[in-house]
Amino acid sequence: MTLQLRIYVPPHPLIQHWLAVARDADTPSVLFRSAMTELGRWLTYEAARDWLSTQEAIVQTPLDSCPATIINPTVPIAVVPILRAGLGLLEGAQTVLPLASIYHLGLVRNEETLEPQCYLNKLPEKLDPQTRVLITDPMLATGGSIMTAMAELTQRGIEPTMTRIVCVVAAAPALQKLSQAYPGLIIYSAGIDKNLNSQGFIVPGLGDAGDRMFGT
Ligand code: PRP
Repeated sequence: MTLQLRIYVPPHPLIQHWLAVARDADTPSVLFRSAMTELGRWLTYEAARDWLSTQEAIVQTPLDSCPATIINPTVPIAVVPILRAGLGLLEGAQTVLPLASIYHLGLVRNEETLEPQCYLNKLPEKLDPQTRVLITDPMLATGGSIMTAMAELTQRGIEPTMTRIVCVVAAAPALQKLSQAYPGLIIYSAGIDKNLNSQGFIVPGLGDAGDRMFGT
């Protein structure tokens, strides 16, 4: 079977509603942060569906024993928020994955070249290859930042098929790059936009998510 990049846009009213709030230019920072938290929560819930490792067990109810399915405690779970804006989705992701390790990755795009520069990397030198990694970043625009994050993970032994990306808006250039480099990767996004403007912003997009979250 040939692997292909898959992007899911869950048709859920809560996800659609919070995307609309995030896109609205009149949404103040405090509500924009709520929208990011809610989108992080519900998109992570959707992404976890066929991604978390489970195992069969027997549990004792107050009346009898019965078969049960539990999260496999031996398979590590990690969330990698791409700073700054990925922090907005992290809070909601953590409510779904409370035992996940959080490895911060600080990337900022050079405003002229649009190339990402790394200013913080808290990833360990090696990761257990079984680790389920979820990357959070609200915007995939040119794709430079997410490609850098993926390279950092694959260098550490992580399989792209074990990775999920949670974002709010994904644009075509980023999806093309990811699809060529990482077939088999799965993305959960609240929406897909086609275009970037001359400054590398997604159109219609949601503006600069980092600035809107932190009021800068
Ligand atoms: C934004 C956004 C992504 C990146 C996407 O971050 O949050 O990380 O740009 O663009 P790309 O796909 O073209 O790389 P930014 O560099 O503005 O930093 P910030 O999150 O600190 O605001």
